[in-house]
Formats: sequence, structure tokens, C-alpha cells
Amino acid sequence: MKILIINGPNINFLGIREKNIYGNGSYEELVEYIKSYCQMDEISVKIVQSNFEGEIINYLQEVYFEKVDGIIINAGAYSHTSLAIYDAIKGINIPTIEVHLSNVYSREEIRHKSVIAGACLGQISGFGKYSYILAIEGLKLKSKQNEVSVD
Ligand code: DQA
Repeated sequence: MKILIINGPNINFLGIREKNIYGNGSYEELVEYIKSYCQMDEISVKIVQSNFEGEIINYLQEVYFEKVDGIIINAGAYSHTSLAIYDAIKGINIPTIEVHLSNVYSREEIRHKSVIAGACLGQISGFGKYSYILAIEGLKLKSKQNEVSVD
């Protein structure tokens, strides 16, 4: 199984930004944690990060030609604003899961609305680094389901 993980704006500042919300762990630690989880499971994973909306869209379009089985995206604040990222996810037709480290529904109201959620298989929010692990497991289950059924 081959997956792409895209992290959006400010996710590279984990361990520096709002530690009371996002914890002390750095972005590099998060990346290492996800990579070692995937290695144990023999999943091929590429993890990218960008603070630019257009670059996130480029990553989504590029992966269309790379034949990945699934995408996990933490679009940061763009989750709440970006119709362009919604369109890009819709356009490539690859199973995509939206993740958030924090529980966006327990925070400011402006974070309660995800613009990209409707283009995704589902959303996982509030489990810190485990949000990514739950999303990986979701993609695995979904791809198994697709092997045995057309639902
Ligand atoms: C976030 C939640 C967003 O509301 C916020 O803008 C982020 C991080 C999360 O992972 O909890 O940058 O996506």
C-alpha cells in the first residue's frame, strides 16, 4: 500500500506553536513516528509539508499520476477556508482522509466548519499524532473493503 501525507500551514511549527493545544513534540518527531509506524506495516509513505495553498494543490495533482492508494491531509487553517483544496481533492478521485491534531470542534467556532470535508472519505480530529495513525488504519480498511466489494 502506498500513501501520501500532506501537512499544511504551520504544522511544521509543532513543538513551537501553542504547545497547550498541539503538545511539545516537534514536526520532525511526528514525521519519524508516522514513518516508523508505516515501516512496521510495510506501507510506503511520503510525507510533505507546505505553508502555501497552491503548493498543496500541486502535491494533490502530482499524486494523481503516481497511483497512490490514499491520501491523508492536515490542511491546517486552509481546511476551514480553501475551496481550491476541496476542488483539487474532488478532482483527483483518490480516497482522502482529513485529519486534525486538535479537536477542532472543541475550539473556536470558526474551526467547526471544514470546507474540504465534503471531498474526503471522512475526518479524524482530536487524537494528536494518533489522528494520523487512525487515518492510516481507515485507508487500510477501506482498501480491503474495496477488494471484496464494490460498495
Ligand atoms: C489543525 C487545526 C486547524 O484549525 C489549525 O488551523 C491548524 C492545525 C490541527 O491539526 O489541529 O493549523 O489542523
